[in-house]
Amino acid sequence: MARDPEIIVVDPDIDSRTDTAHMLEASDLTVIAESDYGIAAVAVAKESPPDVFLVSMEEPVARALQTIEMITSAAPQAATIVASSLADAGSVRRAMVAGARDYLIKPLKPEDVTRAVYGVLEQEERKRQQAGGELAEPTGRGMVITIFGAKGGIGKTTIATNLATALARMTNSNVVLVDMDTRFGDVAIMMDVAVEHSIADLGRRVDELDRETIKDALTSHHTGVSILPAPLHPTEWRNLTPDHITKIVNLLAQGHDYVVIDTPGTFNEIIAATLELGDIILLMTSMDIASIKDTALALEMLRAAEVSEDKVKLIINHSTSSNSLREEDVERVLEYEVTWRIPHDYHVANSNQLGIPIVIAKPYARVSRAVTEMAHALSGTPRESKGFLERFLGRAS
Ligand SMILES: Nc1ncnc2c1ncn2[C@@H]1O[C@H](COP(=O)(O)OP(=O)(O)OP(=O)(O)O)[C@@H](O)[C@H]1O
Ligand SMILES: [Mg+2]
Repeated sequence: MARDPEIIVVDPDIDSRTDTAHMLEASDLTVIAESDYGIAAVAVAKESPPDVFLVSMEEPVARALQTIEMITSAAPQAATIVASSLADAGSVRRAMVAGARDYLIKPLKPEDVTRAVYGVLEQEERKRQQAGGELAEPTGRGMVITIFGAKGGIGKTTIATNLATALARMTNSNVVLVDMDTRFGDVAIMMDVAVEHSIADLGRRVDELDRETIKDALTSHHTGVSILPAPLHPTEWRNLTPDHITKIVNLLAQGHDYVVIDTPGTFNEIIAATLELGDIILLMTSMDIASIKDTALALEMLRAAEVSEDKVKLIINHSTSSNSLREEDVERVLEYEVTWRIPHDYHVANSNQLGIPIVIAKPYARVSRAVTEMAHALSGTPRESKGFLERFLGRAS
């Protein structure tokens, strides 16, 4: 390569990405841009395709992996190097499967980065000479988060509305919340919006939809979240097929960083489609025996459907205050790790009734902190920095 390689640093943590960029420049490498994960990285990559992406990857790795897939498809000529403090073989393998060409363990040493950059470029050059050929116009894809639970009334809609809000407010991303409750959708009520268009309207003109026209059916919420409500009458679901749902969710994912899907406590072929589409499935359970038993069945069903366990994160929501079981018992009975825990908070019912997500109404409440923590982890953004809640409050209207 005659000219100096051009690098884009992708890292949701602004401080660490600035440090990395400085380190690269001190090693005489050219950083042409820095970016957050997701659609932002795709936009930067399309605007100025680099020779190399240097992508930071930390736990949980889903969003980093998804970003690697998106940018390698958006800028297929570029090579991706992952920088991570995760040194286990599984993380390395997953990064490579997602499209990384090399994997560096943090803390980064300038000489290792330089060697890796020139190494992957040589590899790419060889590949180009061997293969050549044009690639199709690439499109980015946001993360689809399906909120699933084996039972009704365990807080799925509460978490869906608050998680969508937290993602939109904290990460400044485009978030769409889809009400896939095929019985009686509650999202519109919990977010206090009038239903003008619903997912059933989209089903009627699914053939003519594209990633732009689908946006006309969305309702904008003042939090920044776009909402695709359920139809007012459950009978309207009859006109929607799993293929319709797949097309609708895929189009939404092309235009949004996150598609958060709320589901009912029942199972049908539409819900099966949303589980298949989920990059992450948040399997919610409450702490009562019936819910744990049904969650065990749901886990069994997901396993039988060969849904990868990496995708399924178990969440305990203390939707009632009764405490007969301990969280450790739940893990032991289900033989499954609990990823997040949402505490009980009597303010939740009030917020839901007022139609204001609790992360906005009471950002300091324990539930709000737990959901915010979850949003940070899912988005790969750093935990609360000093003054975050103040900024959050300041932006709440
Ligand atoms: N962490 C919590 N603390 C206190 N109350 C909660 C919590 N989570 C949910 N709730 C309450 O539990 C009830 C059920 O919540 P929600 O409607 O979100 O459940 P759901 O799983 O979506 O139910 P459905 O399957 O019927 O749609 C609501 O009254 C809500 O206020
Ligand atoms: Mg619900």
